[in-house]
Amino acid sequence: MDPLKVLLVSSEVAPFAKTGGLADVVTALARHLAKNKHDVRVVMPFYGRLRRSEYEFESLERLADIPMRCGDKRYWFSVASAELPRSKQRVFFVRCPELYDREGIYTQDPDEHLRFGLLSRAALEICQWTQWAPDIVHANDWHTALMPLYLRTVYAWDKLFARTRTVLTIHNIGYQGVVSAEKLRDLELENERRLLYQEDLNDGRLNFLKTGILYADALTTVSKTYAREIQGEELGMGLQGLLRQRDDHLFGIVNGVDHDEWNPSKDTLIPARFSARDLRGKLQNKRELCEKFGLDFDPRAPLIGCVSRLTTQKGFELLPDILPVVLHREDVRLIVLGTGEERYENYFNWLAGAFPRKVAFKAGFDNPLAHWIEAASDMYLMPSRYEPCGLNQMYSLRYGSIPIVRRTGGLADTVRAFDSQSGEGTGFLFDDFTPEALYHAILRALGVWRDPQAWSRLVQNAMREDFSWERQIQHYIELYRRLAPPKR
Ligand code: ADP
Ligand code: GLC
Repeated sequence: MDPLKVLLVSSEVAPFAKTGGLADVVTALARHLAKNKHDVRVVMPFYGRLRRSEYEFESLERLADIPMRCGDKRYWFSVASAELPRSKQRVFFVRCPELYDREGIYTQDPDEHLRFGLLSRAALEICQWTQWAPDIVHANDWHTALMPLYLRTVYAWDKLFARTRTVLTIHNIGYQGVVSAEKLRDLELENERRLLYQEDLNDGRLNFLKTGILYADALTTVSKTYAREIQGEELGMGLQGLLRQRDDHLFGIVNGVDHDEWNPSKDTLIPARFSARDLRGKLQNKRELCEKFGLDFDPRAPLIGCVSRLTTQKGFELLPDILPVVLHREDVRLIVLGTGEERYENYFNWLAGAFPRKVAFKAGFDNPLAHWIEAASDMYLMPSRYEPCGLNQMYSLRYGSIPIVRRTGGLADTVRAFDSQSGEGTGFLFDDFTPEALYHAILRALGVWRDPQAWSRLVQNAMREDFSWERQIQHYIELYRRLAPPKR
């Protein structure tokens, strides 16, 4: 069969720009599609901070100063490319300093809709300028969710896209890109009002993600459980009705672990490497991490790790009622790395001040430290309110750090409850979103920890679990093949 041409467009691609799992997943998709000999093009913005980075960017002369009309405004964009580390794959960067030269990846600025509207259109125009006809346009989250509609409207005239089919992956329904309907002009969609969700328009709104859900040929989300959950009241965040209507076109595909990045026996970002067969390095990682952060090191005291965006999604409001109790009563250590809402940063700073020898908190984004925490900790905390997939619990399994997670979304699909009787299972789960339920899960974990034989069995089960992209990518390829019509 002919290789597929896949255009993959995203606001985040690791390692160039990352705030969370979206970046890891897009990179893994690109690498594994390429490994399967498909022809992939990845397109993302050239954010201001990339200028100060160590990557080598090459300007593409043919793709310079391309004008784009956006309502009353006009922008010019150029294209640069760089190699995706550890693959031959090249990534295309849309350069438009006026829109992307900002402090962060995301902003609260009034032209946020344009930053990602332009990205979505520029990706299609790159195809036009290079006469590259994608079989699949794969959009990710709200930022690029207008692409299916653009193909049906602004770019519908171009035969280049006649056979193109679209996939929209919902990584997180909590972010929908809701803007004032006045922005339709900037997005060149003013004349397409009839195609938009009328109730929203009447209320003066445009919802990027909802528009994508209406027009993508196929929708995917990042676990089977989340695919079900978003069709319900509690986690559909207002889109459940529409998703139920499109149920036949909605597929749950669990994310994977990129073994080139997350592998304890090869990881160069951690002090000592280790494997399921020889765990000595893991203990060394723990000792050195405790020393670095001024925690009392004791091999008998379990270290609980957590690396996360600090947002309501992640369930941190369950902690204040129980952590001080756990820390008073039990001989445990806790290390948290995260950045996000101030109230959570304040809380963890307070906790670290209250238990200086037991708790450490590092505010900020730090990839090497994220690896080190996975490698050093005995348990990994992820009490998410909702979790589309979650990568950290899978990284934790690989690094022998036993997940304590809420049974929701991808956490439910990837962590199996440990049963001391049979010795089966890989972690500890709780159902109700309450401090008590989490407390009991932590106590269960500490109970098993006290039985070294059972714990060692658990660690072996966890480290042998296989969530490789080699397998998951096949589900995407099958889906693309079903969508892309056979060539004549
Ligand atoms: P989400 O995408 O909702 O943030 P995931 O578990 O899917 O959750 O992915 C989070 C990714 O971001 C992981 O690779 C994790 O290691 C990384 N990450 C999150 N916060 C930080 C941080 N403060 N420093 C370094 N890496 C982080
Ligand atoms: C989102 C979700 C997370 C998922 C990631 C990658 O940010 O919150 O659960 O793993 O996207 O798909």
